[in-house]
Amino acid sequence: MPAPPPSRLSAPSERSSGASASAPALEVERIAHTYRDRSGREVRALENLWLTVSKGEVVALVGPSGCGKSTLLKLICQLTSPDAGTLRGEPAVLMFQRDLLLPWLHALDNAALALRAAGRSRGSARAAARPLFAELGLDGFEQARPDELSGGMRQRVAFARTLLSGKPLLCLDEPFGALDAITRMQMQSWLEAALLHRPRTVVLVTHDVEEAVLLADRVAVLSPRPGTVLAELEIPLARPRARTDPLVAELRERALRALGLDAARAGATGTAGIAGAAGAGTAGVAGAAGAGGERSPGPAASVRGGGGVHPAGLARR
Ligand SMILES: Nc1ncnc2c1ncn2[C@@H]1O[C@H](COP(=O)(O)OP(=O)(O)O)[C@@H](O)[C@H]1O
Ligand SMILES: [Mg+2]
Repeated sequence: MPAPPPSRLSAPSERSSGASASAPALEVERIAHTYRDRSGREVRALENLWLTVSKGEVVALVGPSGCGKSTLLKLICQLTSPDAGTLRGEPAVLMFQRDLLLPWLHALDNAALALRAAGRSRGSARAAARPLFAELGLDGFEQARPDELSGGMRQRVAFARTLLSGKPLLCLDEPFGALDAITRMQMQSWLEAALLHRPRTVVLVTHDVEEAVLLADRVAVLSPRPGTVLAELEIPLARPRARTDPLVAELRERALRALGLDAARAGATGTAGIAGAAGAGTAGVAGAAGAGGERSPGPAASVRGGGGVHPAGLARR
């Protein structure tokens, strides 16, 4: 019998985003996915994973490297199919960590690429993309080639392209993961402002727990591979959020504990990131949560057993 959906904090009294009570934007039930390479070796990436995302909600996925986060986004975007379980939801588009801009096209044409692929004329695609450049702080850079743009600007062009796909559900796969720390913080503020201005349904994969708390309405914590949702943490904070807000620090700590990480030591490494904490020789995800291999006890069991999730406020769904 598959384990039930994971525990989560009781519903927040108010949501800071435009999340609504209408039909969910995404319902993932009990999905599993196993890769098989040419030699027949199997890698169980996901197992018994449940996730619901409301319209207008921003849900962050955090979990150790290799736990199946990117696989889940590919399933949501129908780039691959699950072995078991069901996914229902609105059309979704995937944005990667690398901007994947075409070096021979200027920024405006890169942003308009999805529209061109959908058959729009060059003039019409450019006209649709142009207003976004002002909105995304790229005014004046329409004619710049990707190698003339900073990393943050390239990611914003990629974000414009993602928005212009017209798909209502945005899946962002570590969108700032390749940026330096200062640019990453700027981009987090930028994305927060962009979503305030134009609310979207977003599934955000990040290895940066602080980023998850700053940007999301809810953080889903995944187990080591095969990934399943261990716990969900509501983030009922108004926006804009401040890094220095003690509530941000407290929620970050809860998320780290749900991951099986020692929050104080993770903080002492100077990073709230999962990879950073593990890499610095502190209690890493793999070490703390079961060596990163196949887990024999059901992942949800660690929540039921109180495995590191803040006891206050956890309520069964
Ligand atoms: N195309 C593939 N073929 C075989 N194994 C894969 C493939 N893609 C991913 N995997 C494996 O599946 C697991 C989950 O991968 P992924 O979803 O990329 O994890 P994450 O994004 O959480 O780091 C990893 O062990 C990875 O090596
Ligand atoms: Mg990934």
